[in-house]
Amino acid sequence: MPVRHILRAQQFDMDLLKTIFRRADRFATWHEIPDMREREAVWERCHGKVQISLFYQPSTRTRISFGIAAHRLGIHVEQTENAREFSSAIKGESLEDTIRVLNAYEADLIVLRHYEEGAAQRAASVSSCPVINAGDGPGQHPTQALLDLYTIRQAHSTIDGLTVVIGGDLARGRTARSLAYLLSKYKDVNIIFVSPPELRMGSDVLDHLKEHGAIFAEHDALEDVVGNADVVYWTRAQTEHPIDGTDDKALQERYCIDERITRLMQPHASILHPLPRNSEISAAIDSDPRARYFIQAGNGVPVRMAAIEWVLGLL
Ligand code: NCD
Repeated sequence: MPVRHILRAQQFDMDLLKTIFRRADRFATWHEIPDMREREAVWERCHGKVQISLFYQPSTRTRISFGIAAHRLGIHVEQTENAREFSSAIKGESLEDTIRVLNAYEADLIVLRHYEEGAAQRAASVSSCPVINAGDGPGQHPTQALLDLYTIRQAHSTIDGLTVVIGGDLARGRTARSLAYLLSKYKDVNIIFVSPPELRMGSDVLDHLKEHGAIFAEHDALEDVVGNADVVYWTRAQTEHPIDGTDDKALQERYCIDERITRLMQPHASILHPLPRNSEISAAIDSDPRARYFIQAGNGVPVRMAAIEWVLGLL
């Protein structure tokens, strides 16, 4: 079997998405499974396996939920947090050499977050064990898109035919990019990108959507489109990567979801955000039943359990 990596959202086909989501459904009720033998069978298959989390950029959700996912499967986790400073990268070691060394230790799986677009692909090209892209600079974050889509499916029972607003900082945010790629695989999904003109979605994603016949539009103002949305997927300004001429503070103030916006939304709609949030989602709407971002974060564990099983050839 060829090595299974998770590098970009485009790689998934409908059958694989269904398989991963069905498995995630099972893991979502993991603690309620009365039959210990089912859990033991999972642990037995994973016993002795090692996952290495190599994070060159900050992370809370992704690193911890991957760790918990591995733990629940019975996989041991080794990790380097802040690998940019605390790994041999500071001594000048290339990413490729670090991956070769982890392979020499017979790692079963590497979860990589890196500040450069294409880093996961580079790592995979020298790795004989699976590499999962946990965010590569402004590139992609495919497992985040899996859990985003899983959350949409959970809230709306379907993905086909939905109107999904994806908004905020679309130029620098990788989660919005991966989600747009995944949504384009579904039937009649209407994607509405909302951002200031200087932070529009990249042309690579828009070209992909055109090639695949996806329906999409670009808008400046959330107020104009939010009334039609089934899903509003909102993102923060990536202030740690400043762009000349972009006023991030003004962006955060103007592109904010608060009660003024939720009043315009349909009762069945859902509000998602990959988190962390700053002021672009007001805490005043957290108790609105349409706000699903903390449920979404929680879905990271079962979805990543399924993704890990898939790369290990167990699914
Ligand atoms: C995102 C990321 O790192 O791309 N965080 C996450 O993994 N949930 C979003 C962000 O940092 O804005």
